Amino acid sequence: METIGLGVIGAGIWGEAQARVFASEPSAELIAVCDVREERARMVKKKYGAKRWYTDVEEMMRDEEIHAVGIATPDFAHREPFVCACQAGKHILVEKPLATTEEDLLSMREALSRSQVKVMVDFHTRWNPAIVIAQRDIQEGKLGELMSCYYRLNDIIFVPTKMLSWASSSSILWFLGSHTVDTLRFLVGSEVKRVYAVSRKEVLLKMGIDVADLYQAILEFENGVVATIENNWIVPNTNPHWNDIKINLLGSKGMISMDLTNNQAVERYLEERSDHPDILIMPTVHGRALGFAHESIRDFVHRLVRGEEFLVGFEDGYRVSKVILALFQSAEERMPVEVQYE
Ligand SMILES: NC(=O)c1ccc[n+]([C@@H]2O[C@H](COP(=O)([O-])OP(=O)(O)OC[C@H]3O[C@@H](n4cnc5c(N)ncnc54)[C@H](O)[C@@H]3O)[C@@H](O)[C@H]2O)c1
Repeated sequence: METIGLGVIGAGIWGEAQARVFASEPSAELIAVCDVREERARMVKKKYGAKRWYTDVEEMMRDEEIHAVGIATPDFAHREPFVCACQAGKHILVEKPLATTEEDLLSMREALSRSQVKVMVDFHTRWNPAIVIAQRDIQEGKLGELMSCYYRLNDIIFVPTKMLSWASSSSILWFLGSHTVDTLRFLVGSEVKRVYAVSRKEVLLKMGIDVADLYQAILEFENGVVATIENNWIVPNTNPHWNDIKINLLGSKGMISMDLTNNQAVERYLEERSDHPDILIMPTVHGRALGFAHESIRDFVHRLVRGEEFLVGFEDGYRVSKVILALFQSAEERMPVEVQYE
């Protein structure tokens, strides 16, 4: 089997997840890790046995042993490494959201069009078995005609206050709303036509983090399906899992309900707290990185090696970002907004 050389740009929480999978694949070799923070680049390089580390993206792009890169810089900082990778001819796994501004989206699309580079956007919920089974049921008509969806995907308040240093430069809509919108596009099999969003900003602002607490929105799809979505960053830390996830898919002949917060099978009661240890998203079993969040990264490597098309491409990321931009506009204007894709 052909082996490909891989690099990771942004060696934070998720860059480390990429490095973990890249380093464990027999068909790949983790060549280098890049982070503007030298200590992170050095640490992740050492922990996962990479050959080199860098603090400069352009320097890393000159590394001829690297054929493809994973981009895991903060939400608002994907453009620069993406454009550099296109110019250097390195294939790309870019974390969600693809980009957070119109200008970034256009410049990334332009750079990609001038290259032969292949791109996957890491919307890993599309590898969640519960979601894939539901999508298959919908496609096979088991629910009749899909009428409406409810999708709530929230984070405990630890995430914007302690985990992410850059929460106020992003939004729960970018961080989790992008998954919500992409997963709905996958389930509904159609594009979002119009959105109406309402937001509140109080709890995090009082804690010194200038970002909205929550968004509630209605999405109308081109095929008539209506979805209600909720994304918030203020779930109490006592929630049994870091996410709070509830989904309902209503068809003319059937319905699917999911409680993915508690779909962890295991209830754990410790002296200080009770929780549901993760067995679905990214557990490590006998040293192997399992779960759907690792699986999407692994799928990137496998498809790249086999020369197969990725399951989620640049256009998916582009369209999701356009929907999120429309949601912000709607929340600001307090009016429904038609999504402009071009
Ligand atoms: N944390 C999660 O649960 C999670 C899950 C899935 C996807 N993601 C996505 O992954 C991306 C990274 O998130 P994270 O949680 O790992 O953030 P993080 O803050 O832990 O890591 C980001 C890293 O990028 C580095 N960086 C910033 N600018 C850089 C540049 N120009 N060149 C090189 N390195 C640079 C930072 O020093 C930092 O180490 C985000 O887009 C996020 O939405 C995060």
